[in-house]
Amino acid sequence: MEKFIVEGGRPLYGHIDIQSAKNAVLPLLAASVLTEEAVIIHKCPRISDVVGMTGILEELGCAVRWEGGDLYIDSSAAANHEIPAALAKELRSSVFMLGSVIARFGRARIAYPGGCDIGLRPIDLHLSGLRRLGVEISEDGGYIDCACPRPQGAEVLLDCPSVGATENLILASARAEGTTVIRNAAREPEIVDLQNFINRMGGRVKGAGGATVVVEGVRKLHGAEFTPMPDRIEAGTFLIAAAMCGGKLALTNVQPAHLDALLHKLREISCKIGAEGDKIYIECAGRRLSPKLVETSPYPGFPTDLQAPMTALACICEGATVVVENLFETRFKHVPELIRMGADITVRGRAALIRGVRSLQGADVIAGDLRGGAALTLAAVSAEGESTVTDLRFIDRGYSGFEYKLRAAGARIRRVRV
Ligand code: UD1
Repeated sequence: MEKFIVEGGRPLYGHIDIQSAKNAVLPLLAASVLTEEAVIIHKCPRISDVVGMTGILEELGCAVRWEGGDLYIDSSAAANHEIPAALAKELRSSVFMLGSVIARFGRARIAYPGGCDIGLRPIDLHLSGLRRLGVEISEDGGYIDCACPRPQGAEVLLDCPSVGATENLILASARAEGTTVIRNAAREPEIVDLQNFINRMGGRVKGAGGATVVVEGVRKLHGAEFTPMPDRIEAGTFLIAAAMCGGKLALTNVQPAHLDALLHKLREISCKIGAEGDKIYIECAGRRLSPKLVETSPYPGFPTDLQAPMTALACICEGATVVVENLFETRFKHVPELIRMGADITVRGRAALIRGVRSLQGADVIAGDLRGGAALTLAAVSAEGESTVTDLRFIDRGYSGFEYKLRAAGARIRRVRV
């Protein structure tokens, strides 16, 4: 096990280059088996979720190799349609493989997916949508078995705009017979990236980014090269870091429009923000005013993945903040740890009331999930005194070189083995 040792209380200054988006790359890796030809993902982040996904691709028989920051996937020899529990349990995104493996092989067998424990995270919408496409699904002993020689285009109305279900249905229908219409689709920008990648492979997907996605099935897809979109959650995490620590940061490789909900909040609490092309500048001095109300909702609302960092920021703002988590049931695991650092937080169900304190105090805390772990690291970097953040496995799922980037901006943080 590894931990961060952090000496907090220093402002952040400098430039941070943002990685490609984890949540875009994972479905792209699933999409790579839709074609028998090679694909190249440029600027692919080397985070453990990506490494886990490459393990699944290898299990299917794909040849995977890194060349610098680029990932090459050749699935011409892929023949296996089964993803064992040991791999699926490591990674929630293994569920995307259902759609693409069915599309490629006409069947799939996958253990129930794992991932961060932030709530129930059911996959009922994925399964009912696949059934609409004609996929026969049975479940036994923790495995989901799917069979369908070729999915058939259909109308699917999602009960709620699930990102994963939207992506899985796009993957399953990319090579289907006929046209699939997904209504009440999630509108996250990562879905647009998936659409663009499939279209670069010769697919016919349109409407992503809106509530209706239309997929015209094609018989075959070919190889392609693609550079995924910037990681809006990583960018948001560093913006919140600057708001907590003070200082001045320039972020490159960002799409400011993807961060509207956060930028709006940060401006409200008097951070100076500038955006130009693919850059965002943030400058903060003194104590921030509280953001008052932060309520997570599907894109373009405030992202649930930035709720934990935003909660950490609210802890040291002037005044009280209510944070409402509308997407996941148990996404407040960082709260008891923040309280150990001196935060004043009361949680009732999906809402947290945070009364701002002047500063947090260094403490030994434990990361319980990916974004919660990032939030605790920011808390430690801003706190007075020394902290340790233990169990970096979660943080490594989504941030490549997290501590290097913070250190380059002036934070005192190092990684040690426990
Ligand atoms: C994706 C993101 C995750 C982010 C989340 C919400 C990836 C790899 N992960 O997760 O980082 O926090 O979107 O922005 O892209 N739901 C159901 N039934 C289903 C599927 C979902 O009830 O079959 C519910 C969930 O419990 C949740 C809501 O729908 O309350 C949204 O979940 P969803 O959008 O599916 O999140 P993920 O795709 O798992």
